[in-house]
Amino acid sequence: MKLKRIGVYTSGGDAPGMNACLRAVVRTAVAEGMEVVGIRRGYQGMIEGDFIKMEAHSVSNIIQRGGTILKSSRSAQFRSPEGRQRAYNRIKEAGIEGMVAIGGDGTFAGASIFCNEFKIPIVGAPGTIDNDLYGTDFTIGYDTALNTAMEAIDKIRDTADSHNRLFIIEVMGRDAGFIALNVGIAGGAEAVLIPEEKTYIDVICDKLEQGWIRHKTSSIIIVAEGDDAGGADDVARQVNARFSHYDTRVVVLGHIQRGGTPSCMDRVLASRLGNAAVEALCEGLSNIMVGQVNNKVVHTSFAKACKLNQEMDPALMNLLEVLSV
Ligand code: F6P
Repeated sequence: MKLKRIGVYTSGGDAPGMNACLRAVVRTAVAEGMEVVGIRRGYQGMIEGDFIKMEAHSVSNIIQRGGTILKSSRSAQFRSPEGRQRAYNRIKEAGIEGMVAIGGDGTFAGASIFCNEFKIPIVGAPGTIDNDLYGTDFTIGYDTALNTAMEAIDKIRDTADSHNRLFIIEVMGRDAGFIALNVGIAGGAEAVLIPEEKTYIDVICDKLEQGWIRHKTSSIIIVAEGDDAGGADDVARQVNARFSHYDTRVVVLGHIQRGGTPSCMDRVLASRLGNAAVEALCEGLSNIMVGQVNNKVVHTSFAKACKLNQEMDPALMNLLEVLSV
């Protein structure tokens, strides 16, 4: 299907590699003979008509940059039918015939409603550090965030060991423990607390106790922000109440995990999926996310990508248990 003009936006939490994806979208579209409109600040910018014309050179020198040059937002207005109608009016006025959405589950949930309400084709590229979308082995930004968190944990381990301390480190992941589990394994943590598994503070304290008996001088617990025991501060309080041998410190890594120059893996994934998103639009597809599974590009409906959970590998959980003695 020949589209004359497409729009592209980044929305929700930014992720390293969004710029690389945007570059691939713009350059693929230009190569296909299409015009590209950049929609700034995600759905909020769509409602306000915050648009810029993009050419191949508009995306020069951004492949290595973190964040998103289009900027992002979480738009409350877009959740209402009136907000979406306003957004559609702006899209029509600008002559946009199809769109590429770069973001996570909130972005795709909004895109899916919008495609169904207004029959405008939208294809998504998964950009989120959380890795919590079904239909792709990895999301754009996840690899970089893992490495950022791991490097921080390595640094904390140096000081933890020097002072014989217990560090409770909170990483991002409101609903998903992928970052927590993987950096826990990579950083040699004693325990990892994730939203997918019920947390038993007694079990954690028993483990710390056993380590203490074996003369372990420091320990690290990684907590995903969405864990059922609470954030790192809550976990520290509960652990300290039952196990007080260590001097405990809390570190919340927070938004540091969202920034920084994207890794090689993220740049390649972003380039590939940005290109695939435009190709999918050209094939007449809509209401889908492009992803990479077993090194192949695949298409998954927005509904499935958002609702089905990417499985937490029990073998990895077991690995942490076996290695963290
Ligand atoms: O979805 C990405 C993410 O970084 C989550 O891990 C985190 O819970 C959330 O965004 C934080 O959002 P905000 O930047 O709006 O506080």
